[in-house]
Amino acid sequence: MAESKNGRYAHIVGWGKYVPSKVMTNADLARIVDTNDEWIVTRTGIRERRIAGSKDTTASMGFAAAKEALERAGIRPHEVDLIIVATATPEYVFPATACLIQDALGAVNAGAFDLSAGCTGFMYAMAVGAQTIRSGAHNIVLVIGAETLSRIMDWKDRATCVLFGDGAGAVVLRVGAGSGGVLATICRSDGSGGDLLMVPGGGSKCPPSHQTIDQGLHFIKMNGREVFRFATRIMDKSAREVAACAGIDLDDVDLVIPHQANLRIIQAAARALKMPEEKFFVNLQHYGNTSSASIPIAICEAVEQGRLKPGDHCVLVGFGAGLTWAAALVKWGEPKPLHEPTRLERAYEGLLYVGAGVRSRLARGFRRVESAVGGTPLPRSIDGEKGRKTKK
Ligand code: ACO
Repeated sequence: MAESKNGRYAHIVGWGKYVPSKVMTNADLARIVDTNDEWIVTRTGIRERRIAGSKDTTASMGFAAAKEALERAGIRPHEVDLIIVATATPEYVFPATACLIQDALGAVNAGAFDLSAGCTGFMYAMAVGAQTIRSGAHNIVLVIGAETLSRIMDWKDRATCVLFGDGAGAVVLRVGAGSGGVLATICRSDGSGGDLLMVPGGGSKCPPSHQTIDQGLHFIKMNGREVFRFATRIMDKSAREVAACAGIDLDDVDLVIPHQANLRIIQAAARALKMPEEKFFVNLQHYGNTSSASIPIAICEAVEQGRLKPGDHCVLVGFGAGLTWAAALVKWGEPKPLHEPTRLERAYEGLLYVGAGVRSRLARGFRRVESAVGGTPLPRSIDGEKGRKTKK
Protein backbone atom coordinates (compact mmCIF):
# COMPACT_ATOMS: atom_id res chain seq x y z
CA MET A 1 0.00 0.00 0.00
CA ALA A 2 2.93 2.38 0.68
CA GLU A 3 3.69 3.11 -2.99
CA SER A 4 0.79 4.75 -4.76
CA LYS A 5 0.07 3.28 -8.21
CA ASN A 6 -1.51 6.50 -9.46
CA GLY A 7 1.06 8.81 -7.84
CA ARG A 8 -1.47 10.23 -5.36
CA TYR A 9 -0.44 10.47 -1.71
CA ALA A 10 -2.43 11.76 1.29
CA HIS A 11 -0.23 14.27 3.12
CA ILE A 12 -1.01 15.77 6.51
CA VAL A 13 -0.81 19.49 5.77
CA GLY A 14 -2.62 21.02 8.73
CA TRP A 15 -3.33 20.23 12.38
CA GLY A 16 -5.21 21.92 15.18
CA LYS A 17 -6.57 21.27 18.65
CA TYR A 18 -8.96 22.67 21.18
CA VAL A 19 -9.10 21.77 24.85
CA PRO A 20 -11.52 23.33 27.34
CA SER A 21 -10.00 25.77 29.79
CA LYS A 22 -11.40 24.02 32.88
CA VAL A 23 -8.75 21.77 34.46
CA MET A 24 -9.84 19.00 36.83
CA THR A 25 -6.95 17.60 38.87
CA ASN A 26 -6.82 14.25 40.66
CA ALA A 27 -7.20 16.19 43.92
CA ASP A 28 -10.43 17.73 42.57
CA LEU A 29 -11.68 14.23 41.75
CA ALA A 30 -10.80 12.97 45.23
CA ARG A 31 -13.36 15.48 46.54
CA ILE A 32 -16.09 13.86 44.38
CA VAL A 33 -15.38 10.11 44.60
CA ASP A 34 -13.40 7.80 46.87
CA THR A 35 -10.04 8.01 45.07
CA ASN A 36 -6.67 9.66 45.47
CA ASP A 37 -3.86 11.14 43.38
CA GLU A 38 -1.46 8.31 44.20
CA TRP A 39 -3.86 5.57 42.93
CA ILE A 40 -4.68 7.42 39.73
CA VAL A 41 -1.06 8.32 38.90
CA THR A 42 0.38 4.87 39.61
CA ARG A 43 -2.41 2.95 37.80
CA THR A 44 -2.87 5.30 34.82
CA GLY A 45 -0.27 8.11 34.69
CA ILE A 46 -3.09 10.71 34.56
CA ARG A 47 -2.66 13.85 36.70
CA GLU A 48 -5.36 16.12 35.32
CA ARG A 49 -7.94 16.34 32.53
CA ARG A 50 -9.96 19.08 30.81
CA ILE A 51 -13.71 19.29 31.32
CA ALA A 52 -16.07 20.96 28.86
CA GLY A 53 -17.60 24.23 30.06
CA SER A 54 -21.26 25.06 29.54
CA LYS A 55 -20.53 26.56 26.10
CA ASP A 56 -18.27 23.72 24.92
CA THR A 57 -19.91 21.02 22.84
CA THR A 58 -18.51 18.29 20.60
CA ALA A 59 -19.29 20.45 17.55
CA SER A 60 -17.94 23.71 18.97
CA MET A 61 -14.67 22.07 20.02
CA GLY A 62 -14.38 20.18 16.73
CA PHE A 63 -15.00 23.43 14.85
CA ALA A 64 -12.24 25.25 16.77
CA ALA A 65 -9.73 22.45 16.10
CA ALA A 66 -10.74 22.25 12.42
CA LYS A 67 -10.46 26.02 11.91
CA GLU A 68 -6.93 26.00 13.34
CA ALA A 69 -5.97 23.04 11.13
CA LEU A 70 -7.36 24.69 7.97
CA GLU A 71 -5.62 27.99 8.76
CA ARG A 72 -2.32 26.17 9.27
CA ALA A 73 -2.81 24.37 5.95
CA GLY A 74 -3.65 27.63 4.17
CA ILE A 75 -6.87 26.03 2.94
CA ARG A 76 -10.21 27.83 2.70
CA PRO A 77 -13.33 26.02 3.89
CA HIS A 78 -14.94 25.91 0.42
CA GLU A 79 -11.92 23.92 -0.85
CA VAL A 80 -12.62 20.98 1.50
CA ASP A 81 -14.15 17.92 -0.23
CA LEU A 82 -15.03 15.79 2.79
CA ILE A 83 -15.37 16.19 6.57
CA ILE A 84 -15.26 13.11 8.82
CA VAL A 85 -15.90 13.53 12.53
CA ALA A 86 -14.88 10.63 14.73
CA THR A 87 -16.81 10.78 17.99
CA ALA A 88 -18.44 8.62 20.63
CA THR A 89 -20.26 11.68 21.97
CA PRO A 90 -22.01 13.23 18.97
CA GLU A 91 -24.02 16.38 19.45
CA TYR A 92 -27.23 14.52 18.46
CA VAL A 93 -28.21 11.03 17.26
CA PHE A 94 -28.71 12.91 14.01
CA PRO A 95 -27.90 15.18 12.24
CA ALA A 96 -24.23 14.26 12.19
CA THR A 97 -21.87 16.47 14.16
CA ALA A 98 -19.82 16.63 10.94
CA CYS A 99 -22.71 18.51 9.26
CA LEU A 100 -22.86 21.03 12.12
CA ILE A 101 -19.14 21.67 11.73
CA GLN A 102 -19.48 21.83 7.93
CA ASP A 103 -22.12 24.54 8.37
CA ALA A 104 -20.12 26.48 10.96
CA LEU A 105 -17.02 26.42 8.74
CA GLY A 106 -18.92 27.33 5.58
CA ALA A 107 -17.42 24.27 3.85
CA VAL A 108 -20.10 24.50 1.17
CA ASN A 109 -18.58 21.92 -1.18
CA ALA A 110 -17.91 19.20 1.38
CA GLY A 111 -19.66 15.94 2.17
CA ALA A 112 -19.85 15.31 5.91
CA PHE A 113 -20.43 12.29 8.13
CA ASP A 114 -19.71 10.96 11.63
CA LEU A 115 -17.77 7.81 12.28
CA SER A 116 -18.25 5.69 15.40
CA ALA A 117 -15.41 3.37 16.40
CA GLY A 118 -14.92 4.26 20.07
CA CYS A 119 -11.46 5.60 20.87
CA THR A 120 -10.22 4.18 17.54
CA GLY A 121 -12.54 6.54 15.65
CA PHE A 122 -9.89 9.03 14.59
CA MET A 123 -7.65 6.28 13.22
CA TYR A 124 -10.52 4.78 11.23
CA ALA A 125 -11.46 8.26 9.95
CA MET A 126 -7.89 8.96 8.90
CA ALA A 127 -7.72 5.62 7.08
CA VAL A 128 -10.97 6.37 5.20
CA GLY A 129 -9.93 9.96 4.42
CA ALA A 130 -6.50 8.90 3.14
CA GLN A 131 -8.04 6.20 0.95
CA THR A 132 -10.51 8.60 -0.65
CA ILE A 133 -7.56 10.82 -1.56
CA ARG A 134 -5.36 8.00 -2.84
CA SER A 135 -8.25 6.61 -4.90
CA GLY A 136 -8.76 9.98 -6.61
CA ALA A 137 -12.24 10.58 -5.15
CA HIS A 138 -11.17 13.62 -3.11
CA ASN A 139 -8.31 16.09 -2.89
CA ILE A 140 -8.80 17.64 0.56
CA VAL A 141 -10.27 15.83 3.57
CA LEU A 142 -10.74 17.24 7.05
CA VAL A 143 -10.49 14.56 9.76
CA ILE A 144 -11.68 15.56 13.23
CA GLY A 145 -11.79 13.70 16.57
CA ALA A 146 -13.96 15.47 19.16
CA GLU A 147 -15.41 14.32 22.49
CA THR A 148 -17.38 15.57 25.48
CA LEU A 149 -17.01 12.38 27.49
CA SER A 150 -17.65 14.24 30.75
CA ARG A 151 -21.32 14.34 29.71
CA ILE A 152 -21.64 10.51 29.59
CA MET A 153 -19.51 9.77 32.63
CA ASP A 154 -20.91 8.42 35.88
CA TRP A 155 -19.32 10.80 38.36
CA LYS A 156 -20.09 8.27 41.11
CA ASP A 157 -18.11 5.47 39.40
CA ARG A 158 -14.49 5.88 40.46
CA ALA A 159 -13.38 3.10 38.10
CA THR A 160 -14.26 5.17 35.01
CA CYS A 161 -14.64 8.85 35.91
CA VAL A 162 -10.94 9.24 36.72
CA LEU A 163 -9.90 8.09 33.24
CA PHE A 164 -11.56 10.38 30.72
CA GLY A 165 -11.41 14.00 29.57
CA ASP A 166 -12.80 16.32 26.88
CA GLY A 167 -11.22 17.94 23.83
CA ALA A 168 -10.85 17.92 20.06
CA GLY A 169 -8.14 17.60 17.44
CA ALA A 170 -8.13 17.78 13.66
CA VAL A 171 -5.87 17.18 10.70
CA VAL A 172 -6.18 18.23 7.07
CA LEU A 173 -5.23 15.61 4.48
CA ARG A 174 -4.33 16.92 1.03
CA VAL A 175 -3.36 15.14 -2.15
CA GLY A 176 0.31 15.42 -3.10
CA ALA A 177 2.42 13.80 -5.79
CA GLY A 178 5.54 13.26 -3.67
CA SER A 179 5.77 9.94 -1.82
CA GLY A 180 4.88 10.41 1.85
CA GLY A 181 2.00 11.20 4.17
CA VAL A 182 -0.26 8.34 5.24
CA LEU A 183 1.68 5.43 3.73
CA ALA A 184 -0.25 2.52 5.26
CA THR A 185 -3.24 1.91 7.49
CA ILE A 186 -4.85 -1.11 9.11
CA CYS A 187 -8.32 -1.21 10.70
CA ARG A 188 -9.50 -4.21 12.73
CA SER A 189 -12.39 -5.18 15.01
CA ASP A 190 -13.68 -7.89 17.32
CA GLY A 191 -17.34 -7.31 18.15
CA SER A 192 -17.37 -10.24 20.57
CA GLY A 193 -15.82 -7.80 23.06
CA GLY A 194 -18.47 -5.12 22.59
CA ASP A 195 -19.85 -5.57 26.08
CA LEU A 196 -16.48 -4.77 27.68
CA LEU A 197 -16.86 -1.07 27.00
CA MET A 198 -20.24 0.40 26.20
CA VAL A 199 -23.02 2.88 26.89
CA PRO A 200 -25.92 0.42 27.16
CA GLY A 201 -28.87 2.85 27.21
CA GLY A 202 -30.15 5.58 24.93
CA GLY A 203 -29.82 3.69 21.63
CA SER A 204 -32.60 1.98 19.68
CA LYS A 205 -32.29 -1.29 21.61
CA CYS A 206 -32.75 0.39 24.95
CA PRO A 207 -34.32 3.81 24.26
CA PRO A 208 -34.11 6.51 26.92
CA SER A 209 -36.73 6.09 29.64
CA HIS A 210 -37.08 6.79 33.35
CA GLN A 211 -35.83 3.25 33.88
CA THR A 212 -32.64 3.67 31.80
CA ILE A 213 -31.90 6.91 33.61
CA ASP A 214 -32.60 5.41 37.06
CA GLN A 215 -30.27 2.51 36.25
CA GLY A 216 -27.58 4.84 34.90
CA LEU A 217 -27.54 3.03 31.56
CA HIS A 218 -26.68 6.27 29.76
CA PHE A 219 -23.21 6.25 31.33
CA ILE A 220 -19.98 4.55 30.19
CA LYS A 221 -19.68 0.98 31.56
CA MET A 222 -16.31 -0.67 31.34
CA ASN A 223 -14.57 -3.86 32.32
CA GLY A 224 -11.22 -2.13 32.90
CA ARG A 225 -9.12 -5.26 33.37
CA GLU A 226 -10.31 -6.91 30.17
CA VAL A 227 -9.89 -3.71 28.14
CA PHE A 228 -6.39 -3.37 29.60
CA ARG A 229 -5.54 -6.95 28.57
CA PHE A 230 -6.92 -6.42 25.06
CA ALA A 231 -5.07 -3.11 24.63
CA THR A 232 -1.67 -4.47 25.65
CA ARG A 233 -2.17 -7.41 23.22
CA ILE A 234 -3.04 -5.40 20.13
CA MET A 235 -0.78 -2.31 20.47
CA ASP A 236 2.47 -3.97 19.47
CA LYS A 237 0.77 -6.36 17.04
CA SER A 238 -0.83 -3.53 15.05
CA ALA A 239 2.32 -1.38 15.11
CA ARG A 240 4.30 -4.30 13.64
CA GLU A 241 1.59 -5.03 11.08
CA VAL A 242 1.31 -1.46 9.78
CA ALA A 243 5.09 -1.02 9.60
CA ALA A 244 5.35 -4.24 7.55
CA CYS A 245 2.51 -3.04 5.34
CA ALA A 246 4.42 0.19 4.62
CA GLY A 247 7.69 -1.70 4.14
CA ILE A 248 9.34 0.20 7.02
CA ASP A 249 11.58 -1.48 9.56
CA LEU A 250 10.49 -0.85 13.17
CA ASP A 251 14.02 0.43 13.88
CA ASP A 252 13.38 3.18 11.34
CA VAL A 253 10.28 4.39 13.17
CA ASP A 254 11.15 7.72 14.81
CA LEU A 255 8.02 8.26 16.90
CA VAL A 256 4.99 6.31 18.05
CA ILE A 257 1.87 8.30 18.89
CA PRO A 258 -0.39 5.87 20.75
CA HIS A 259 -3.94 6.38 21.96
CA GLN A 260 -3.56 8.13 25.31
CA ALA A 261 -5.50 5.83 27.63
CA ASN A 262 -3.07 4.55 30.22
CA LEU A 263 0.69 4.96 30.68
CA ARG A 264 1.03 1.31 31.71
CA ILE A 265 -0.50 0.19 28.40
CA ILE A 266 1.99 2.39 26.51
CA GLN A 267 4.91 1.07 28.56
CA ALA A 268 3.82 -2.52 27.89
CA ALA A 269 3.68 -1.77 24.15
CA ALA A 270 7.20 -0.27 24.26
CA ARG A 271 8.50 -3.41 25.98
CA ALA A 272 6.75 -5.72 23.52
CA LEU A 273 8.10 -3.75 20.54
CA LYS A 274 11.56 -3.57 22.14
CA MET A 275 11.51 0.18 21.53
CA PRO A 276 12.73 2.79 24.02
CA GLU A 277 9.91 4.55 25.86
CA GLU A 278 11.35 7.88 24.67
CA LYS A 279 10.08 7.02 21.19
CA PHE A 280 6.49 7.10 22.50
CA PHE A 281 4.71 10.43 22.69
CA VAL A 282 2.75 10.77 25.93
CA ASN A 283 0.55 13.66 27.04
CA LEU A 284 -2.15 11.72 28.92
CA GLN A 285 -0.89 13.18 32.22
CA HIS A 286 -2.55 16.47 31.18
CA TYR A 287 -5.69 15.32 29.38
CA GLY A 288 -6.59 11.77 30.43
CA ASN A 289 -8.26 9.65 27.78
CA THR A 290 -10.02 11.96 25.32
CA SER A 291 -11.09 8.99 23.14
CA SER A 292 -11.20 9.98 19.43
CA ALA A 293 -9.51 13.29 20.19
CA SER A 294 -6.44 11.81 21.89
CA ILE A 295 -4.30 11.05 18.81
CA PRO A 296 -4.93 14.31 16.91
CA ILE A 297 -4.29 16.36 20.07
CA ALA A 298 -1.06 14.38 20.56
CA ILE A 299 -0.04 14.99 16.91
CA CYS A 300 -0.40 18.76 17.47
CA GLU A 301 1.68 18.68 20.63
CA ALA A 302 4.34 16.40 19.12
CA VAL A 303 4.82 18.93 16.28
CA GLU A 304 4.79 21.88 18.73
CA GLN A 305 7.47 20.19 20.83
CA GLY A 306 9.67 19.35 17.82
CA ARG A 307 9.16 15.61 18.34
CA LEU A 308 7.78 15.16 14.81
CA LYS A 309 10.07 16.49 12.09
CA PRO A 310 10.01 16.42 8.28
CA GLY A 311 11.12 13.01 7.02
CA ASP A 312 10.24 11.21 10.27
CA HIS A 313 8.40 7.91 10.15
CA CYS A 314 5.63 7.90 12.74
CA VAL A 315 3.31 5.09 13.83
CA LEU A 316 -0.13 6.13 15.08
CA VAL A 317 -1.98 3.38 16.93
CA GLY A 318 -5.40 3.38 18.58
CA PHE A 319 -7.77 0.97 20.29
CA GLY A 320 -11.17 1.21 21.87
CA ALA A 321 -14.80 0.25 22.14
CA GLY A 322 -16.17 -2.18 19.61
CA LEU A 323 -13.70 -3.67 20.22
CA THR A 324 -11.74 -1.87 17.53
CA TRP A 325 -8.11 -1.11 16.83
CA ALA A 326 -6.20 0.56 14.01
CA ALA A 327 -2.80 1.89 13.07
CA ALA A 328 -1.22 4.13 10.46
CA LEU A 329 2.31 4.66 9.30
CA VAL A 330 2.89 8.29 8.37
CA LYS A 331 5.93 9.84 6.75
CA TRP A 332 5.84 13.37 8.10
CA GLY A 333 6.33 15.99 5.41
CA GLU A 334 7.24 19.64 5.28
CA PRO A 335 3.84 21.01 4.40
CA LYS A 336 3.61 24.32 2.62
CA PRO A 337 0.32 26.20 2.99
CA LEU A 338 -1.84 26.00 -0.15
CA HIS A 339 -2.36 29.76 0.08
CA GLU A 340 0.03 32.02 1.93
CA PRO A 341 -2.26 34.92 2.69
CA THR A 342 -1.14 38.48 3.23
CA ARG A 343 -2.37 40.20 6.39
CA LEU A 344 -5.26 41.65 4.45
CA GLU A 345 -6.19 38.25 3.04
CA ARG A 346 -5.89 36.75 6.54
CA ALA A 347 -8.42 39.33 7.75
CA TYR A 348 -10.67 38.40 4.80
CA GLU A 349 -10.36 34.71 5.72
CA GLY A 350 -11.42 35.57 9.26
CA LEU A 351 -14.51 37.16 7.74
CA LEU A 352 -15.21 33.93 5.82
CA TYR A 353 -15.96 32.21 9.14
CA VAL A 354 -18.22 35.07 10.23
CA GLY A 355 -19.78 34.84 6.77
CA ALA A 356 -20.43 31.12 7.32
CA GLY A 357 -22.69 31.97 10.26
CA VAL A 358 -24.53 34.59 8.21
CA ARG A 359 -24.85 32.17 5.25
CA SER A 360 -26.30 29.51 7.56
CA ARG A 361 -28.88 31.91 9.02
CA LEU A 362 -29.80 33.18 5.56
CA ALA A 363 -30.22 29.60 4.28
CA ARG A 364 -32.57 28.80 7.18
CA GLY A 365 -34.50 32.01 6.64
CA PHE A 366 -34.74 31.39 2.89
CA ARG A 367 -36.03 27.86 3.54
CA ARG A 368 -38.77 29.25 5.82
CA VAL A 369 -39.78 31.95 3.31
CA GLU A 370 -39.76 29.45 0.44
CA SER A 371 -41.95 27.09 2.40
CA ALA A 372 -44.39 29.87 3.41
CA VAL A 373 -44.65 31.37 -0.07
CA GLY A 374 -44.33 28.35 -2.31
CA GLY A 375 -45.82 25.59 -0.17
CA THR A 376 -44.55 22.04 -0.36
CA PRO A 377 -43.31 20.79 -3.73
CA LEU A 378 -45.11 17.62 -4.78
CA PRO A 379 -43.62 14.82 -6.85
CA ARG A 380 -44.74 14.82 -10.50
CA SER A 381 -46.34 11.39 -10.11
CA ILE A 382 -48.89 12.83 -7.67
CA ASP A 383 -49.98 16.08 -9.27
CA GLY A 384 -49.04 15.22 -12.86
CA GLU A 385 -47.05 18.39 -13.38
CA LYS A 386 -44.36 20.30 -11.56
CA GLY A 387 -46.93 21.47 -9.09
CA ARG A 388 -46.79 22.96 -5.63
CA LYS A 389 -49.21 22.41 -2.82
CA THR A 390 -50.04 25.95 -1.75
CA LYS A 391 -50.99 26.68 1.82
CA LYS A 392 -54.68 27.37 2.35
N1 ACO B 1 -9.36 5.06 43.03
C1 ACO B 1 -9.03 4.22 43.99
N2 ACO B 1 -9.24 2.89 43.89
C2 ACO B 1 -9.82 2.44 42.77
C3 ACO B 1 -10.22 3.29 41.73
C4 ACO B 1 -9.96 4.65 41.88
N3 ACO B 1 -10.28 5.55 40.94
N4 ACO B 1 -10.76 2.55 40.74
C5 ACO B 1 -10.73 1.28 41.14
N5 ACO B 1 -10.16 1.21 42.37
C6 ACO B 1 -9.92 0.03 43.21
C7 ACO B 1 -10.83 -1.12 42.83
O1 ACO B 1 -12.05 -0.99 43.52
C8 ACO B 1 -10.03 -2.28 43.27
O2 ACO B 1 -10.17 -2.42 44.66
P1 ACO B 1 -10.30 -3.90 45.33
O3 ACO B 1 -9.03 -4.59 44.98
O4 ACO B 1 -10.49 -3.59 46.76
O5 ACO B 1 -11.49 -4.50 44.64
C9 ACO B 1 -8.59 -1.86 43.01
O6 ACO B 1 -8.61 -0.44 42.91
C10 ACO B 1 -8.01 -2.44 41.75
O7 ACO B 1 -8.94 -2.28 40.71
P2 ACO B 1 -8.64 -2.78 39.26
O8 ACO B 1 -9.81 -2.51 38.40
O9 ACO B 1 -8.11 -4.18 39.32
O10 ACO B 1 -7.43 -1.83 38.87
P3 ACO B 1 -6.46 -1.95 37.65
O11 ACO B 1 -5.07 -2.03 38.11
O12 ACO B 1 -6.96 -2.94 36.63
O13 ACO B 1 -6.63 -0.50 36.98
C11 ACO B 1 -7.80 0.63 35.24
C12 ACO B 1 -7.93 -0.08 36.56
C13 ACO B 1 -6.91 1.86 35.42
C14 ACO B 1 -9.18 1.08 34.78
C15 ACO B 1 -7.16 -0.30 34.19
O14 ACO B 1 -7.83 -1.54 34.20
C16 ACO B 1 -7.20 0.25 32.79
O15 ACO B 1 -6.55 1.24 32.50
N6 ACO B 1 -7.91 -0.41 31.88
C17 ACO B 1 -8.00 0.06 30.49
C18 ACO B 1 -9.01 1.14 30.42
C19 ACO B 1 -9.00 1.86 29.11
O16 ACO B 1 -7.96 2.10 28.54
N7 ACO B 1 -10.20 2.23 28.66
C20 ACO B 1 -10.34 3.04 27.50
C21 ACO B 1 -10.44 2.26 26.25
S1 ACO B 1 -10.61 3.26 24.89
C22 ACO B 1 -12.26 3.65 24.56
O17 ACO B 1 -12.81 3.26 23.53
C23 ACO B 1 -13.03 4.50 25.47
